[in-house]
Amino acid sequence: MSRLAIIGGTGLTQLADLKIIRHDSITTPYGSPSADFITGELNQKEVVFLARHGNPHSIAPHKINYRANIWGLKQLGVEHIIAVAAVGGITSEMVPAHIVIPDQIIDYSYGRKNTFFEDENDPVSHIDFSYPYSHALRSRLIHAAKKAGIPISPIGTYGCTQGPRLETSAEIKRMENDGCDLVGMTGMPEAALAKELGINYATICVIANWAAGKIEGEISMAEIEQNLHKGMANAVTLLKAFVEMM
Ligand code: HPA
Repeated sequence: MSRLAIIGGTGLTQLADLKIIRHDSITTPYGSPSADFITGELNQKEVVFLARHGNPHSIAPHKINYRANIWGLKQLGVEHIIAVAAVGGITSEMVPAHIVIPDQIIDYSYGRKNTFFEDENDPVSHIDFSYPYSHALRSRLIHAAKKAGIPISPIGTYGCTQGPRLETSAEIKRMENDGCDLVGMTGMPEAALAKELGINYATICVIANWAAGKIEGEISMAEIEQNLHKGMANAVTLLKAFVEMM
């Protein structure tokens, strides 16, 4: 397999098992990426790692320079991205600490720089986005999960909200009516930008909590941390099984 990158989200700021080879600090026409790009070996396979929220975790979802991140990865010759993202669970199968490989997206974010084609001199470009995630990468992830014995949901619709606040219970009801299974804040425009540059992209979602209104009372940050701790350990095992198949 050609060059693979892993974008780590909340709960995965570092890949502890990555044997680091090189740090690349890249400036792009779109500004600075979230952090240095780290090239290293995971299970003897070379991968590039990027901490989406910076390292240490300091950049809120709406402040992330998605264009610089994706552009930088393209500069490094990356052709495939596995993004890891913490999400809230909306539908009944989406229980905390569970892993989902989503197949669809609904974008509720706004005001983000969401295209590389915005200059007057750029051609008008409408990428096909019928299937936002790479079918080939998703199939491999599903296969790797089976091999590693990690239970996952192999489909799901990811709704991307603007954040940084969590949603109201009415907003989650509306999202469920729309067909969303999961809610997160960073899936867009990341997926669309990867598609604009011709990079294959898939996401491992780790469920941190029941979405707003799905349980009595408030969403507890302590519970989120606990669920992410368990879920991210499985996500890393899945990533290792995935690279083993490369
Ligand atoms: N909503 C939005 N993003 C999230 C959530 C949530 O409940 N949990 C983790 N990321």
